[in-house]
Amino acid sequence: MSNVLGIDVGGSGIKGAPVDLEVGDFAEPRLRITTPEKSSPKNVVAVLREIVDNFAPTIGDGPVGISFPAPARHGVIPFIANLDQEWAGLHAENYISDALGRPVTVLNDADAAGLGEVHYGAAKGVPGLVILTTLGTGIGSAVINNGVLLPNTELGHIEIDGHDAESRAASSVKDRKKMSYKDWATKRLQPYYATLEMLFSPDLFVVGGGVSKDHDKFFKYLDLETPIVPAQLRNRAGIIGAAWQAQWRLEHPDVTEQQVIAAAEEAKKDD
Ligand code: BGC
Repeated sequence: MSNVLGIDVGGSGIKGAPVDLEVGDFAEPRLRITTPEKSSPKNVVAVLREIVDNFAPTIGDGPVGISFPAPARHGVIPFIANLDQEWAGLHAENYISDALGRPVTVLNDADAAGLGEVHYGAAKGVPGLVILTTLGTGIGSAVINNGVLLPNTELGHIEIDGHDAESRAASSVKDRKKMSYKDWATKRLQPYYATLEMLFSPDLFVVGGGVSKDHDKFFKYLDLETPIVPAQLRNRAGIIGAAWQAQWRLEHPDVTEQQVIAAAEEAKKDD
């Protein structure tokens, strides 16, 4: 199997690397380019092209998996907080694929990390329900049952005590408010994970995002029934998972996004 390019588009950086899907790791060191100040589709695509060109010898004419800090419903980004609003409502998958001239799969960043962890990391072979949350600027979520992803969950936006959860519990809040690990964990993370536990009865929590490397500083303050472990692939999970998804889509052309959309249109007519 050839190497497949995975790219993570974030509010501050756009990072890509060819992924060796046999081993589930980067085949070459990643390239990071600062997100353009105006992060419009046009400007972001220029960066994506630079990353694709950089790795062209390794990835041939293969597919590209690209993760965004937003839901991605059959290739369309319905809303987005941390990039230019021109993305909202855009069929990002078609737009980028046309611009790059190759197959492109667009998915949510936390879903990408979840796929990375389930195929190569902390959730590999774990039976039952796994919830991965990424703690960073916001909170992203991936819900995986017996290895199958339920895409586009937005569990960072559940309401807790009248607040959007990520506005209280993201690690960016801890940094901004200069909270200690103990205060952040006991006051912000504990109610968040306890609520997820009550709503979903998961079998495992996996915690990703940059702060997960410091897990020994805050996991100890959490009092949960559910085991909680750090992401194993750290900040590589999203790029690896995006590449995995791009390859999967290529190998399963029978279930096309068009079919899903057409079926939904039919169902609307029957209403
Ligand atoms: C977005 C999610 C995203 C998460 C992490 C949230 O604000 O709504 O889609 O996964 O941030 O980037």
